[in-house]
Amino acid sequence: MDPKITGLLPGLTEAGQAHLLRFWDNLSPDERTALNQELQMLDFQEINGFFKRAMESFSCTKNEKMDARMEPVPQEVLGSVTRDKGSLKRWEEKGLECISQSKVAVLLLAGGQGTRLGVSYPKGMYDVGLPSHKTLFQIQAERILKLQHLAEEKNKSKCIIPWYIMTSGRTMESTKDFFSRLNYFGLDKKNIVFFQQGMLPAMDYDGKIILESKSKLSMAPDGNGGLYRALGNQGILDDMQRRGIDFIHVYCVDNILVKVADPAFVGFCVEKDADCGAKVVEKSNPTEAVGVVCKVDGLYQVVEYSEITLATAEKRSLDGRLMFNAGNVANHFFRFSFLKDIVETYEPKLEHHVARKKIPFVDPQGQLITPDKPNGIKMEKFVFDIFQFAKTFAVYEVLREDEFSPLKNADRQDGKDTPTTARHALMSLHHRWVLNAGGHFIDESGARVPAIPSLKDGTDLPIKCEISPLVSYGGEGLEALVKDRDFHPTLIIDENGVHELVKNGV
Ligand code: UTP
Repeated sequence: MDPKITGLLPGLTEAGQAHLLRFWDNLSPDERTALNQELQMLDFQEINGFFKRAMESFSCTKNEKMDARMEPVPQEVLGSVTRDKGSLKRWEEKGLECISQSKVAVLLLAGGQGTRLGVSYPKGMYDVGLPSHKTLFQIQAERILKLQHLAEEKNKSKCIIPWYIMTSGRTMESTKDFFSRLNYFGLDKKNIVFFQQGMLPAMDYDGKIILESKSKLSMAPDGNGGLYRALGNQGILDDMQRRGIDFIHVYCVDNILVKVADPAFVGFCVEKDADCGAKVVEKSNPTEAVGVVCKVDGLYQVVEYSEITLATAEKRSLDGRLMFNAGNVANHFFRFSFLKDIVETYEPKLEHHVARKKIPFVDPQGQLITPDKPNGIKMEKFVFDIFQFAKTFAVYEVLREDEFSPLKNADRQDGKDTPTTARHALMSLHHRWVLNAGGHFIDESGARVPAIPSLKDGTDLPIKCEISPLVSYGGEGLEALVKDRDFHPTLIIDENGVHELVKNGV
């Protein structure tokens, strides 16, 4: 149907976006229908309002340094897997108890476009090349299954950890198809709830929406903080309420080491009575480009590296550690009541962040142009934007090598956060689990491999070892399988037993 007839044009003209119909007369009937549908979905006055507020706050804050307003996380809200060893068991038991009462849900942020990784399908479907060739989705699903069993065994009651999966317009169908084809990895389909975050158009610096073709707007997901709006308008909060969920663990799809619904983290946050909790890793050096959790004007916030001076980034506490060292890894705990407040009261107050990008566009002559410098902006909210509203906050420090190895980039020599680094991180963790459980590795000549692998030919290759999450969630329960035994890599431990691939000539 012609939008000029349906009355779309006056609204577009009023909003200063009538250029979106510039090519209307040259479009085929199908293209007209598609463009019309896309335009009908959008509220142009609202989008213009987002643009105005985002640009205003961007120009106010872009050169502002936070240093004078920042203070580190206070001791009383901090917990650490290394410094609070004595409390770990108690926290874990508390978390398992909550899980066994089916009060804990996990929420996966999987709406990103994965542009740096550069694959055309959702990142969770990526196979980083483990011996099992499991995808990120499968690893996470199996951890949920195992944790349900552990909680059931410990507290002798049947439980469910519902899995909420946030996708975007670009990833929804392929994600759902993938889960269905793989039979939900053994989980009950009715406990996996897919939902979709919003999309926003890319805009030029004058607030004009960019066309990526003559009949298509340049649209992108509205950032992982799009979560809060989607929780409300997709009925997810209602679903959580119906299921009696009190606590939610939110995490990113690309961290291969993620401990979904980590009982110790959950137990720690529950014990602290926290509205909101952030898992952090120690920032490794002053110039590492990672956001830090801290307080700004008395409220919790994540401050990016670019927002502080080098002098502040280099400040150290008396113990020699960086003063602002709580590296944010987008791994959070939320109390349901807090999330509900956010969705109902605070979300509309959040402003979008501005990211300048190179956005392909069609020029007035209809030619597709790929710019070589930023020509417009994308608007995004971040999942941590709501920290400021938490009345009680908790920060839980974990070891990077045990819990954080994100997949961001495609493989290349010495690349950071690549399929290779993710694969190595997981195998190295599993290697350590075997050693801790009393097992050993031997090389081709039968000699024991030293516990700390040496640099070989300049490349630090880990022992090939993979343990299925169905066998062990966090290194537990392996003694009976490995204690006092010698293994040739590749070692695989899964629900069918212990296998050495090389030794058996597989
Ligand atoms: P990133 O910011 O690393 O983005 O997302 P990305 O999409 O994975 O990769 P690039 O930047 O395009 O290369 C961190 C986490 O937030 C999720 C991602 O799926 C990932 O789990 N995310 C990101 C969303 O859920 N929605 C978004 O709009 C953006």
